[in-house]
Amino acid sequence: MKIYILLVIASFTFCFPEKVAPNSTSPPYNAIFNFGDSISDTGNFLKSGAITHPFIGNPPYGQTYFKHATGRCSDGRLMIDFIAEAYGLPFLPPKLALTKDQNIHTGVNFAVAGATALDSKFFVEAGLDKFLWTKDSLNIQLDWFKKLKPSLCTTKQDCDSYFGRSLFLVGEIGGNDINYPAFAGNITQLQATIRPAVEAVIKATNDLIAEGARELLVPGNFPIGCSTFFLTSYKSGNKEDYDESGCLKAFNGFAANYNKQLNQALETLRQKNPQARIMYADYYGAASRFFHAPALYGFTDGALKACCGGVGPYNFNSSTWCGQSGSNACPNASTYVNWDGIHLTEAAYRSIAQGLVNGPFSSPPLKTPPIKI
Ligand SMILES: *[C@@H]1O[C@H](CO)[C@@H](O)[C@H](O)[C@H]1NC(C)=O
Ligand SMILES: *[C@@H]1O[C@H](CO)[C@@H](O)[C@H](O)[C@H]1NC(C)=O
Ligand SMILES: *[C@@H]1O[C@H](CO)[C@@H](O)[C@H](O)[C@H]1NC(C)=O
Repeated sequence: MKIYILLVIASFTFCFPEKVAPNSTSPPYNAIFNFGDSISDTGNFLKSGAITHPFIGNPPYGQTYFKHATGRCSDGRLMIDFIAEAYGLPFLPPKLALTKDQNIHTGVNFAVAGATALDSKFFVEAGLDKFLWTKDSLNIQLDWFKKLKPSLCTTKQDCDSYFGRSLFLVGEIGGNDINYPAFAGNITQLQATIRPAVEAVIKATNDLIAEGARELLVPGNFPIGCSTFFLTSYKSGNKEDYDESGCLKAFNGFAANYNKQLNQALETLRQKNPQARIMYADYYGAASRFFHAPALYGFTDGALKACCGGVGPYNFNSSTWCGQSGSNACPNASTYVNWDGIHLTEAAYRSIAQGLVNGPFSSPPLKTPPIKI
C-alpha cells in the first residue's frame, strides 16, 4: 500500500512537475554567471598560467575539500561554490577551461584572481603595473561573456526567458583596485581609486542589464582593516590605530567608504532599470561578525592570523607565501577565518554564503533556495 501511494505520487510529480509544486521543486535560478577576482575564481587564473603568483597551484591549496589545488584561492570551496550548491547547480566551470562539449547552460565563471574593476591601463599609468597579478579586468571578462552569449540563447524572446532565471554576480571586484596602491604603500592613490573603481562596477552591471540580465547580485568590499595582509603590512605601534577587534580603523574606513559609494550608485542604477532586480551583498557586515566574536562562528584560533603562510606576527610574510617552500599551514583550517593572508578559509566562505542565501546579508534578498546551506 505504501509503495503504491509513493508510486502514484512519484508519477504524478513526474507528469505535472510545475502544477504539483511550482516553487519547491524548481530552483529559482537555472544558471549563474560570475564575474570577479580571487574571491570567486574557480580556476581561470591558474589556467592562464598564474605567472605572477603560481603558489596557488601548490598544496595545501584545496586540501580541505578537493584534496588538490584547483586554482581556488582557499583550502576548499568558495562562496560561489556554496551558492551554486544551494540552488542545485553544478560548480561553475571556469571560462578558460571550457571544453568543446561542456554544458554551459547552468552557468560559467569569468572571474580571474587578481582582476581589477578598472582596466590594467589605469594601474600602468599610476606606476603600479609590477603589482598586477593579471590584466583580465572586468571589461575583459564582460567581453568573454558577450562572445559566449550566442551559444547560450539566440532570439530576444529566448534570451529574456533564459536570463530571467539566471543569476549574475558582479563581483566581488574592486577590492584589488584598492589593494594594488596599498601594496605600493600609496594611500593617496588608494583613496583616489575608490570612485573610478565603483564607477567601473556600476558600468559593468549596467552593461549586463543591457545584455538581458535581470537578477544581479553586486557585492561590496570586506573589512580590509581586519585582513591579515593589511595588519602585517601596516602594523602600527599606536594603539589608537586599532579598533576593539584588533583591526586597522583606517583601512576599514576605506572599505566602508567604497561600500557607501557603491550603494549610492546602485540605488541610482535601480531607478534607471526597474526591469532588473539589483541586489547588494554585504560582505563587510557578514565578515565583521567573525572579527567581533570569532569563537561564536567556530573560529577558535582567532580571526586575524592566517592559517597558511610564513613567519610573521600574523602568520603572514610576503617573502614566503602559502604554497611556497618554507611556509606552514595550521592543522585545521576550519578554526581560522583567514587562509593565506589575503583570502578566507572554506569555513569562513561557507558562513558568508549562508548569510547571503538564507539572509540577512543580501538586500533585497536572493530568491529562496531549495536547499538551506
Ligand atoms: C601616489 O599616488 C599619487 C596619486 O596618483 C601620485 O601623485 C604620487 O606620485 C604617488 N606617490 C608615490 C610615492 O608613488
Ligand atoms: C619574513 O621572513 C624573513 C625570512 O624569510 C624574515 O627575515 C623577516 O623578519 C620576516 N618578516 C616578519 C615581519 O616577521
Ligand atoms: C576541524 O575543526 C572543526 C571545528 O572545530 C571540527 O568540526 C572538525 O572535526 C575538525 N577537523 C579535524 C580534521 O580535526
